[in-house]
Amino acid sequence: MLNPIKLESKNFLSSLDTSCEEFIHILDLAKNFKNKDLNIKLKEKVLGLIFDKSSTRTRVSFQVAMSRLGGTTVDLNPTTSQIERGEPIRDTARVLSRYCDVLAIRTFKQNDLEEYAKWSSKPVINALTDLEHPCQALADFMTIKEEFLDFKDVVLTFIGDGNNVANSLILSGALLGVEVRIACPKGYEPNSLLIDKAYEVYKNKNLLKITNDPNTAVLGANVLYTDVWSSMGEENQKDEKEKVFNGFTIDSDLVSKADKDAIILHCLPAYRSKEITDEVFESHKSRIFDQAENRLHAQQALLSCILQ
Ligand code: CP
Ligand code: NVA
Repeated sequence: MLNPIKLESKNFLSSLDTSCEEFIHILDLAKNFKNKDLNIKLKEKVLGLIFDKSSTRTRVSFQVAMSRLGGTTVDLNPTTSQIERGEPIRDTARVLSRYCDVLAIRTFKQNDLEEYAKWSSKPVINALTDLEHPCQALADFMTIKEEFLDFKDVVLTFIGDGNNVANSLILSGALLGVEVRIACPKGYEPNSLLIDKAYEVYKNKNLLKITNDPNTAVLGANVLYTDVWSSMGEENQKDEKEKVFNGFTIDSDLVSKADKDAIILHCLPAYRSKEITDEVFESHKSRIFDQAENRLHAQQALLSCILQ
C-alpha cells in the first residue's frame, strides 16, 4: 500500500515547494484516494480556512478532504473574525496555529501568505493568491495524467490571462518537464519573475513558450486550458479586458487546430462565451468536471502528506 511521505518543505505556498518526485507522489496518492484504495484516518486534526476571497471548489473540497481524513475544518471568515478589523497577520497566525494543525489561506498578496507562514508554527497551504494557485495545478496535472497516463510528450496550451492559474501551470510544468505554451494578449503575459524561475527549473528550456498568438499555440496541443480574463480583485478591468482579449476565446475553430484527442480544461468558475464557448465547455472533449472533482482527491493527498 502506498503511504504518504513527509514533504521536505513545511509549507505549500508555491508549486515549487515540492520536488518533482513529491509532486508525482501526491498525484499517485490522490489516485489511490479517488479509487478508494487508501483509507487514512488522522484523528482530531484541524484545518483552519482563512479565505479573503470567495470560493466554492477550494473551500468545499478542503472541508470534505479533511472530513474523509477523520479531521475537521474551522472556517475562519475574515468578516466575522478580527482579521477584517486589521489584527496583524503575525498575531493572527501565532494564535490560530496554536489551535489548528494546518492553515489553508486564500488572499490577495503572496507576501501576506508568506507573512502567515513566517509566523505560523503549523504548515500553511496556498489556497490561491494573486500570484499562484498551486492546489489547482495539482488537480490539473492529476486530470492530465488520468487522460494520458504520463506526461511524456504532452503539450499543454493555456489561452487567456497570464494570471495565478497560468503561473502555477508554468511552475508545475517546469517541475514535471511538460511542454507549456501560454498564449495571451500583449501586456497580459505571466509574471516575469516566475517565468525566470521556471526556466531555471526546466531541464529543457524550449518546453516553455510564451506567445501572443493563440492560433499557433494550439497547434498539435493535447490539453487546451483557459480561465477567466479578469480574476477576483480585477473586476474594474472587466470591460477593458473583454476588448483586449478578443480572439482569445477557446471556440471550436481553435479546438480543431489542436491534436484530435485534445482535452479541454478550465479551473472554474467560467464565463461562457467569454474565455470559452458553451459548445466547447459542454463538448465530449471537456474534462472540466473531472478536474473539479480532482481538487478533492489532490488536496486529500496533500493534507495526508502534510499532517502525518
Ligand atoms: N478553481 C477554484 O479555485 O474555484 P473556487 O474559486 O470556487 O475555489
Ligand atoms: N484566476 C481566477 C481563478 C479562480 C479560481 C481568480 O483568481 O479569480
